[in-house]
Amino acid sequence: MDNIVDIKEQIRERTEAVERILRAYLPDDKVLSSDVVRAMNYSVNAGGKRLRPMLMSETYKLFGGNKTVIEPFMAAIEMIHTYSLVHDDLPAMDNDEYRRGKKTTWAQYGEAVAILAGDGLLNYAFETALKAFSCEGADVQRVAGALSILADKAGINGMIGGQDADIAAEHSDKALTLSQLLYIHEHKTAALIQASMMIGAVLAGADDRAVSVIERAAYEIGIAFQIQDDILDVTSTFEELGKPIGSDEKNNKVTYVTLKGIDEASREQKELSNHAIGLLEAFGEQGFHNAFLTDLVKSLITRLK
Ligand code: IPE
Ligand code: IPE
Ligand code: MG
Ligand code: MG
Ligand code: MG
Repeated sequence: MDNIVDIKEQIRERTEAVERILRAYLPDDKVLSSDVVRAMNYSVNAGGKRLRPMLMSETYKLFGGNKTVIEPFMAAIEMIHTYSLVHDDLPAMDNDEYRRGKKTTWAQYGEAVAILAGDGLLNYAFETALKAFSCEGADVQRVAGALSILADKAGINGMIGGQDADIAAEHSDKALTLSQLLYIHEHKTAALIQASMMIGAVLAGADDRAVSVIERAAYEIGIAFQIQDDILDVTSTFEELGKPIGSDEKNNKVTYVTLKGIDEASREQKELSNHAIGLLEAFGEQGFHNAFLTDLVKSLITRLK
C-alpha cells in the first residue's frame, strides 16, 4: 500500500516537472497573439498524463544523463503527441468532442484552426528540439541522432503511418487480422513511446545495443499501452478518462478487445508489460538502474486512465 501511495506521489511530482518544462517552451500567445497559437496552447495545457516526456527523462536518467539537453526533447515529444490527438479527434478521423476532460480543439476553435494548431505543434516540436544544440550537455552527434529518431518515429514509418493504417482498416470491408492490428498499434502508438525512450538513451550516450533493447522494450510498452486504451474505451467512464468511451465501437474499429475479448487482451497486456520490465531490469547487470522507471511501467498495467 505504501508503495502505491509512494509511486503515485512520485508520478505527481514528475508530472509537475514536465509541466514546468512544457510551459517554458510553449509559444507565448501574448507575444504572438493568434487563434492558432491559442489553440496550440489550449490543447497542450488541457493536461494529460505526460507519459512520453516522463519515459524519456527516466530513460535518460537510467543511462546516467543529468543535463538540460533532454528538456527541449521532452517538450517536443509532448507537442507531437498532442498534435496527433488534435488531428485524431477531428470529424474526418475519430470525430470526438472531448479530450483530457475538455472540448477537443476542433470543437472549441473550429476544424480549420484545429488542423492548423496540429500542424503548428508538429513544426514547433522541431523548432523546440533544435534548441537542444545550445543546451548544457549537448553533444552534436547525439542531438542529431535524437532528432533523426524523432522525425522517423513521428512520420510515415511511425505514428502517421499507423494512423493511416487505422483509418484504412476502418473503411475496409475485409476482416482485420491480428498482424494488421499489431502493425496499427506498433505504428500509431508504440512509435512515439519508442522515440521517447530511445531519445533518452541516445542523449545519455547509451551504445547501439542498449538503444535497440530500449526500442524493443518500448515496443512492448507501447502495444500494452494501446491494448489498455482499447480496454478502457469499453470498461471506463467519461469522467475517469476525460474522453468519450465507446469511440472505437462508434467508428467500427477492430481493436484488441473485439479480436480477443477483454480477458485475453488484459492477459496479453500484462505479459507484454512484464517482459518489458524484465528487459529494463536486466540493464542492472551493466550497472544501469532506475527503480522509478520500472515502477512507472508497472503502474501502466493497472492504469484506469
Ligand atoms: C492517448 O494517449 C492516445 C493513445 C496513444 C492511446 P494518452 O493516454 O497518453 O493521452 P494523454 O496524453 O494522457 O491525454
Ligand atoms: C490514437 O489511438 C493514437 C494516436 C496516434 C493519436 P486512439 O484513437 O485509440 O486514441 P484515443 O482513444 O482517441 O485517445
Ligand atoms: Mg484514432
Ligand atoms: Mg481516437
Ligand atoms: Mg482509443
